Amino acid sequence: MMAVDARRVTRYFGVYAALRQASFQIPPGACMALLGRNGAGKTTLIRLLAGLNVPSEGAVTVFGADPTHAEGRRSIGFLGHGSGLYDELSAEENLLLAARVARLPDAAAKVREWLRRVQLERVAHNRPHEYSRGMRQRLALARVLIGGPRLLLLDEPLTALDDRATAMVRGLLQEAIADGATLLMSTHHLSEGMQLASHVLLLDRGAVVYCGERTHAMLTDPASVYALCGDKA
Ligand SMILES: Nc1ncnc2c1ncn2[C@@H]1O[C@H](COP(=O)(O)OP(=O)(O)OP(=O)(O)O)[C@@H](O)[C@H]1O
Ligand SMILES: [Mg+2]
Repeated sequence: MMAVDARRVTRYFGVYAALRQASFQIPPGACMALLGRNGAGKTTLIRLLAGLNVPSEGAVTVFGADPTHAEGRRSIGFLGHGSGLYDELSAEENLLLAARVARLPDAAAKVREWLRRVQLERVAHNRPHEYSRGMRQRLALARVLIGGPRLLLLDEPLTALDDRATAMVRGLLQEAIADGATLLMSTHHLSEGMQLASHVLLLDRGAVVYCGERTHAMLTDPASVYALCGDKA
């Protein structure tokens, strides 16, 4: 069964089609980079797959289930443009809540482990709004990863990270893939995205222009992927 199956998905906002007849599949275990210029439809697509939005036409399934239903939702870990963190709770409490929602046995130990992995143990009692943007991004990612979701839908997870934090996040995502997760990740960090990705999904003005394996040429010259959009800029 495919991790994601999208069939002729169109999404209108008013008369504007942010996604146009988008069809693609994500095989289980893939690490797919979602690429495209500003406004190409990446966030719209990720939100549809996370069940936070519905297609105007066409359909999406996640491991065979409708992502707007509980069965589909359970397999999804979503990180959007917002962090999904509660500002009234400390970092530790945020993770504890996520661990309990995922019904993890020994939630407290898991929380300690994740605070260490994202290097926030020493500020575990602070609240997210007291964090720098990069710290918040690391905590937000830990919140998503702690429950071990089968499908990770991450909208620009590398934004606001310095080079060391980027390497840390890369390691965490590689571990999640090794543990069997499937990942769809939008990013404007082309070379980082290409290094991580086994597959690439490229959108151009709402249409899928490429969906397939990440080729060697994409790795050596990441920006060349935009030639597939037929523009030179
Ligand atoms: N809620 C909305 N209402 C109206 N238009 C929207 C809405 N959400 C998205 N759009 C439009 O849909 C198009 C795609 O937006 P989307 O946010 O999916 O792009 P993106 O690829 O994520 O861009 P970026 O790289 O800037 O994050 C844009 O033209 C945007 O203006
Ligand atoms: Mg976006």
